[in-house]
Formats: sequence, C-alpha cells, structure tokens
Amino acid sequence: MSRPLIYAANWKMHLGPAAARGFIERFQALTRPEEGRRLWFFPPAVSIAAVCEALDGRADAAVGAQNVHWEAKGAFTGELSLPLVTEVGARIALVGHSERRHLYGETDEQVGRKVGAVLKAGLTPLVCVGETLAERDAGRTEQVVVRQVDAFAERVRDWEPVVIAYEPVWAIGTGKTATPDDAAQVHQLIRFQLGRHGVDRRVPILYGGSVNQGNVLALLAREELDGVLVGGASLDPDGWAELVGLRG
Ligand code: 13P
Repeated sequence: MSRPLIYAANWKMHLGPAAARGFIERFQALTRPEEGRRLWFFPPAVSIAAVCEALDGRADAAVGAQNVHWEAKGAFTGELSLPLVTEVGARIALVGHSERRHLYGETDEQVGRKVGAVLKAGLTPLVCVGETLAERDAGRTEQVVVRQVDAFAERVRDWEPVVIAYEPVWAIGTGKTATPDDAAQVHQLIRFQLGRHGVDRRVPILYGGSVNQGNVLALLAREELDGVLVGGASLDPDGWAELVGLRG
C-alpha cells in the first residue's frame, strides 16, 4: 500500500495520564515508524501532556485535543482553548465529532467557528461529518453531509492542514460498519463537494465507525479512504499496534 495513511485513535473518556503513559510505552515497544503512515492520538485533555512526553518526539506521531472552544480565553467554565491545549502539546483538534454534535448540541455554526479558530491557531483540524440512522433511512445522507461540509468550508482559506473524517453516527460504537462501498461513496461525495468550494488539493478523508482489526483492510482497500478514525479498537496498545500494522 503506497498512499499515505492516517491512523487516528480517539480515546474519548478513557485513559487518564498514568494509563495513557503506560499505553504509549507499550505501543512504542511494539511499533516502529513506517514510511507514509501517520499515527494520531486523541487522549482526554488531562492526558495530552503524558502522551506527548511518552511519545518522546516520535516523528510519525501527533497528539490532538478531542474538542476546543473557538475563543482564545474567557469565562467559559469547563471549556478548553487552543492556547491551552497547544501549551501541553496538542497539534491537532478534533472538531464536530458526532458525540459533540448529538449529545451536546454542537451546531454546524459552532463547528465552523471552531474550524476557523483551529486554523488561525496554526493547528490541524480533523473535522467530523456524518449522518444519523434516521437521516440515512430517509435517504438524506447526501444532503446532511453536504450541509455539514458547507458549514465549515466557507471558513477555510488554506486547505493544506485540513483533514476530514466521515463517521456515520449509526456506525459509531455499534459494531455496525459502513461497507467499504458505502464509505467510498460518501467519501467521493465529500470530495466532489470540496471541488465545488474550489478545493484543488487532496484533502485527506478518514473513515470512522466500528473500525477494528477485522475490517480495516477491506475499508482501506478503497482508495477513497485516506485512513481511519477509531474509538473502541484503539484503547488497547497491543490491539492498536496490530491494527496499524495491518497492510493490504
Ligand atoms: P468506534 O470505533 O468505537 O465505533 O468509535 C468511532 C469514533 O467515534 C471515533 O471518533
């Protein structure tokens, strides 16, 4: 497999600093940097510094925040700003994850503001889009994904750092994965929509939703996919090392 691939681990609300450090130490012992393979870690914010320290400057790896506020500072109890997460080592920010959108009511407008702020701060936004089961069943996948892409695309002037993740909500944490064909079709749609915004570079598009060691190869066999964004199957260092080491 020669094209560059990104393997992103979203640990969600798991692995505090001690467990995160232990994970990375074990993972470091099991893996070596490989040409064209990028490893991204999204620990809970309290573990970002521990993960950065344990990675010890590993060149193929980067660490990100799972969520950020668009303001640089202020009275926003419980929120984290880009300067704060950057200070502890984050270089990427996940924006608009479906759990943020659906459990916490994050809107397209807020996702757009966050993308703008992440770019302004000089970090890489990993922007998530994806339809719910009800939207898919109603035949509205295309409409929803296009709306979500449009909502942040207007905020982007330089697409170079931008990465997108297609995560169908019905596939997250459910054990149901989109088929490689379904995923590839939505990735094509996203790319077509980027073209309508005048984007002339290949913005990486990752797939997420119940990706595991058993299905990752079939998904990545589709050249429309530039990597994967993984929750549950990224929580164990041996399993994650195995998953990132599988090549078609
Ligand atoms: P799962 O891999 O657990 O389905 O989670 C996917 C996800 O939400 C990654 O951001």
